[in-house]
Amino acid sequence: MREENQSSTQGFILLGFTSQQKQEDVFFILFLFIYPITLIGNLLIILAIHSDVCLHNPMYFFLANLSFVDILFSSVTIPKMLANHILGTKAISFGGCLAQMDLMLALGNTDSYILAVMAYDRAVAISRPLHYTTIISLRCCVLLVVGSWVIGNANSLPHTLLTASLSFCGNHEVANFYCDITPLLKLSCSDIQFNVKMMYLGVVVFSVPLICITISYVRVFATVLRVPSTKGMLKAFSTCGSHLTVVSLYYGTVMGMYFRPLNSYNLKDAVITVMYTAVTPALNPFIYSLRNRDMKAALGKLFSQRISS
Ligand SMILES: *[C@@H]1O[C@H](CO)[C@@H](O)[C@H](O)[C@H]1NC(C)=O
Repeated sequence: MREENQSSTQGFILLGFTSQQKQEDVFFILFLFIYPITLIGNLLIILAIHSDVCLHNPMYFFLANLSFVDILFSSVTIPKMLANHILGTKAISFGGCLAQMDLMLALGNTDSYILAVMAYDRAVAISRPLHYTTIISLRCCVLLVVGSWVIGNANSLPHTLLTASLSFCGNHEVANFYCDITPLLKLSCSDIQFNVKMMYLGVVVFSVPLICITISYVRVFATVLRVPSTKGMLKAFSTCGSHLTVVSLYYGTVMGMYFRPLNSYNLKDAVITVMYTAVTPALNPFIYSLRNRDMKAALGKLFSQRISS
């Protein structure tokens, strides 16, 4: 009991990316540039979609939701990292650390479920175009989005509560720039067997969307290949290309993050962590708006409206 009290008053130390101050400064400057880009880019996507009636359809509503999750996702870790660097501290409170861990898991899961919803939406649009509006109804959209949030939180809260009940009696140094579940478990002096088992279950829940995405794209490609017309193929690739790019970026970096030995953490891992926490959320708006004519038109309208008013 005394040990738990101690940890809840003591908080944790975020070691950062590397042990070298120079590299730490480079990461600080990188985040200082990327974070505003993430905020502005994703906000513009949401504003453009909501202000243009041409984009009032499920595909774009899901994209707006993805942008919203990305804004929150990068806001959980980056502002704290920037503030700590400026204030010259590495401290985070016990509660702050658990909140960070919980939100990162919840938003990461929600993100991947929304990516799956987007893939399902494309699969229905391409393989059953005549039934699209009846299958992906407004009610269905809301259900899919709410479902993504519920599953996201359901797959983070148990891990947070289990981590909160551990004792941290010795080392309080988290080997990352934010509180992540694996470095936290490593620090505990309690028996973490059950936590690790639950984590494997969490990985399974997290991987379900990847299976849905694969099935959706198999359907998309089967449909496109069955009726091989250049026009159909171009349409399929233009609507799915951006999404596939984002999916690969996201899952590529997640696997780089979590499929590695617990005790290795070097510059390469730091770069992957930066990709996962900062670069991917910043890139999504560009991937979608640079390749998409309707998105570009909506952004153009958004700016001309603002200028004329
Ligand atoms: C998320 O999706 C729902 C349902 O399609 C939509 O009503 C809502 O406006 C979207 N949220 C954002 C932030 O765009």
